Amino acid sequence: MNVEPGSKGVPDNITTSKLAKKAAVVVEVKEKEKEKEKEKEKGADDREKLKPKAPSKQKPQDKDMPRWNQKEKEDRIQSVKEYYQITGELGQGSFGAVYAVTRRSDKQHLAMKVESVNVKKSMLAHEAEVLLSLSVVKSAHFVILYDKGSVENRFLFLVQTLVGINLWDLRTRMPEKRYTLAATLRIAEQTLAGLADMHRAGFLHRDIKPPNFAIGRAEDNTLHTVYILDFGLCRRIARKGSDLRMPRKECGFRGTTRYASLAAHDGAKALRSAVPQTPPTFLAFFFL
Ligand SMILES: Nc1ncnc2c1ncn2[C@@H]1O[C@H](COP(=O)(O)OP(=O)(O)OP(=O)(O)O)[C@@H](O)[C@H]1O
Ligand SMILES: [Mg+2]
Repeated sequence: MNVEPGSKGVPDNITTSKLAKKAAVVVEVKEKEKEKEKEKEKGADDREKLKPKAPSKQKPQDKDMPRWNQKEKEDRIQSVKEYYQITGELGQGSFGAVYAVTRRSDKQHLAMKVESVNVKKSMLAHEAEVLLSLSVVKSAHFVILYDKGSVENRFLFLVQTLVGINLWDLRTRMPEKRYTLAATLRIAEQTLAGLADMHRAGFLHRDIKPPNFAIGRAEDNTLHTVYILDFGLCRRIARKGSDLRMPRKECGFRGTTRYASLAAHDGAKALRSAVPQTPPTFLAFFFL
């Protein structure tokens, strides 16, 4: 840029070389300031690294789980009839974990739900019974129970259909972290159809929440099907050909407070009349 002495904004007594020197000094000062800022940030990073890390939340039963990704390479689990190779972890629950496994005999990909034998109240045995009873109703929304077994003094396991991502995790991957109205309505149609099938089979789920539903897998052509998971809190309300069981007068809270019906919060049993409250609550939660 040519700056003529005496032009607008430039005093007559300052020559172009003086202006250039001044500009160079300003640039130098600014660069030094930038360097100082960088040093400060680096220091903050280092301090962050030096901070003692909060101990990871280890549950007592974690020690009983298969050590599939550690040195022991305990990644082959055997039932009476089969071998399963653990290939990854799909989810962690309050009492155990769920793994992706490959069945050795036919290389089929399945899911293995594992529960420590040291939990106060086992839910896995109950879950197996429910899955078996549900298999009578041929529903596209239920996973199939293929096998079960245990490793002495460590854990029990169930082997079931491998499905895709759960509805909670899927939502977090959506733009703006929510489903479109169209997707919400499709999810509503699928989840309600699944729950209706469960009620026809005589069961209440009692833990309806997004992580307990999952879509299928592209490999199985079931991407548009929503599956119901986690039957540990299910309660049988009717047997085939018999009347509904009478609701109990008193019973403790079951389920997840965030998604529970108002009646369940009020301390009443999971009233059948309260069941329709839950799906709209969690569907609204997806969309809003
Ligand atoms: N059959 C399956 N196929 C694929 N993923 C699964 C399967 N079953 C469970 N998962 C994954 O594992 C997660 C936990 O499963 P599930 O809810 O059955 O366990 P849980 O121990 O009862 O959990 P929580 O106590 O948190 O409800 C699910 O949210 C899902 O992401
Ligand atoms: Mg669950």
